[in-house]
Amino acid sequence: MSRFLLITDSHPLESRLQACIDSAVPGSLYRVGAGAASQPPGDVLRRSLGEPTDVVVIGPDVATDTALRLASGLAASAPDVAVVLIAESDEDPELMRSAMRAGIRDVAPADADPAALRLAIERACAAVDRRRHPADADSARPRAEVITVLSPKGGVGKTTIATNLAVGLARVAPQRVVVVDLDLQFGDVASALNLEPEHVITDAAHNAAAQDSVVLKAYLARTEHGVYALCGPRTPAEADHLSPEQIGFVIDQLAVEFDYVVIDSAPGLGEHLLAALERTTAAVWICGMDVPSVRGTNNALAVLSELQLVPRGRHTVVNLADKRSGLTIGDIESTLGAPVDVVIPRSRTVPLSTNRGIPHLADGRHDSAFRGLSKLVDRFGAEEQQRLRQLHRREVVA
Ligand SMILES: Nc1ncnc2c1ncn2[C@@H]1O[C@H](COP(=O)(O)OP(=O)(O)O)[C@@H](O)[C@H]1O
Ligand SMILES: [Mg+2]
Repeated sequence: MSRFLLITDSHPLESRLQACIDSAVPGSLYRVGAGAASQPPGDVLRRSLGEPTDVVVIGPDVATDTALRLASGLAASAPDVAVVLIAESDEDPELMRSAMRAGIRDVAPADADPAALRLAIERACAAVDRRRHPADADSARPRAEVITVLSPKGGVGKTTIATNLAVGLARVAPQRVVVVDLDLQFGDVASALNLEPEHVITDAAHNAAAQDSVVLKAYLARTEHGVYALCGPRTPAEADHLSPEQIGFVIDQLAVEFDYVVIDSAPGLGEHLLAALERTTAAVWICGMDVPSVRGTNNALAVLSELQLVPRGRHTVVNLADKRSGLTIGDIESTLGAPVDVVIPRSRTVPLSTNRGIPHLADGRHDSAFRGLSKLVDRFGAEEQQRLRQLHRREVVA
């Protein structure tokens, strides 16, 4: 049972928060006016009648300076109380940095949809729980699935599949999926998702954002499908100064905030990809239906196994499948020495969705490519989601 203290004059916000709490966690809500935020932290906590406060939620009608001052005071005097700030926007890196310094656990935008608000609430409760029961925290924290989509060749559908996988997973885990563009020179995740990002991976890796997962979120773009995206650099030269360590660190931070980190990669086995593979829990190998593609995949697998970088989960996808190619799925399986898990046929509609910037799984045409992509999503979605849900529940309720 968690106790929330909401500081705002807004009754509509109170109702929205109450509805979210009712759907997310066992908990009760007590509201005090925005003016209370100027009082000393101890006095603010005493305003909550009845039960002691676990989570303080500061409304957008409290001035930012006052909110940050209160949060810092609470961090010092009541460190096991979590603070959530509801601000006009959560896309201002400066605000996110100040919020982090003030010990604020999460910033939700004032117009957050119920899923996003619920997520902030669940996270705050989980943070309180971790602070109060540090011993159980590690075992209770669900581990993110870090999925890297890779192939030694270009043009085989990595970006198409990574973006569709992210959109499909966001159906089971809304707001909990981030797609990362690791094709640092010619990445096109932004274009595949019709995004014009304000910040890109280089901004995130070079700035203090990389030090904190909450701040890092301000550097992500968001799609209408509930997917977050860390897009590739604007020009190929921009990527020159990004080190593999920086990439690894960014992925580690994203894995704290999200349930699924889907990484789209560049052709080949560059050092940035190797850094990503060190953190990868499942690799999705994309192979075309031609001899060079199959051989390339086989060689890449051999190199990674020498480097001991073959991720635990392995999923093999044959994309652009075409009966007239002269190769069969059986031929590919015997060369790779492993079963092909998903076959995605060459489809006329996929290039159309690429050109429109609307992933095929989001635009609703249920052709055989749609079925193939859905099957890939299901390999991660269904069972995994059940497991995460149980872990979340345990963590939040304990
Ligand atoms: N199953 C498919 N059927 C038809 N076209 C596809 C299919 N998968 C990908 N494509 C198209 O192939 C092109 C290259 O795909 P992309 O995902 O960018 O490859 P990569 O990221 O491996 O370079 C895109 O125009 C995309 O629309
Ligand atoms: Mg690509």
